[in-house]
Amino acid sequence: MDAIRPYQEKDKERVRQICLKNADCQYAPDDTKKYILLMYCDYYIEQEPDNCFVAVDGNDNAVGYIICAENYEKYAKTFRELYLPQVDRISLKRFVDARLDLLSHSMFKNAYPAHFHIDIDEAYQRRGIGSLLVTALKLQLKKKKLSGMMLVCGADNQQAINFYEKNGFKTLLTTKVGRAMALDFDGEKA
Ligand SMILES: CC(C)(COP(=O)(O)OP(=O)(O)OC[C@H]1O[C@@H](n2cnc3c(N)ncnc32)[C@H](O)[C@@H]1OP(=O)(O)O)[C@@H](O)C(=O)NCCC(=O)NCCS
Repeated sequence: MDAIRPYQEKDKERVRQICLKNADCQYAPDDTKKYILLMYCDYYIEQEPDNCFVAVDGNDNAVGYIICAENYEKYAKTFRELYLPQVDRISLKRFVDARLDLLSHSMFKNAYPAHFHIDIDEAYQRRGIGSLLVTALKLQLKKKKLSGMMLVCGADNQQAINFYEKNGFKTLLTTKVGRAMALDFDGEKA
């Protein structure tokens, strides 16, 4: 049976592989892989492991994850110091992409300081695992007195949009490239 548990250091390589696989980058050039991992994975599992959860199979191997930065300002400071310089060295395009990505989260930092990323291995999707991971993170953030969480997904990622709407998320903003969505914890029992 699949189970949800807090992220552990031993999950790192599987989590990074799921991230690359779901971004369709498993066989991409090294620079592309590096960019994806720097932007969407490494900060969270290295700097905020207590805000990360995994779904595991019967052998305790990660098959999905949810990873979160609980405070945008703290995230941006550390990300700019340790991760952004590595992104900037990849290419000018990545330099620009990374800043647009930061902007898309910073727009909502006052109402929703916490943002997250979620990915489930394809073979394990649509079994309720993503919803369980959202619940695990929500409980963790509620314990820390946060009142909501947000994410930005591709505007054309209908699978993810359906998933978030099914889990009670509302749309904050839609542009040609992305959709910002958020879940409010208000009114829910702790
Ligand atoms: C989006 C994702 C995290 C959802 O996790 P999950 O474990 O598959 O989702 P759950 O089983 O908890 O919820 C299922 C609901 O999600 C939506 N959904 C999931 N997969 C879907 C698909 N292939 N097509 C349409 N809707 C889908 C539906 O609303 C579905 O409800 P339904 O089965 O009643 O129609 C997961 O499918 C995934 O990792 N997708 C690829 C990567 C991705 O898009 N990540 C999010 C980036 S912002």
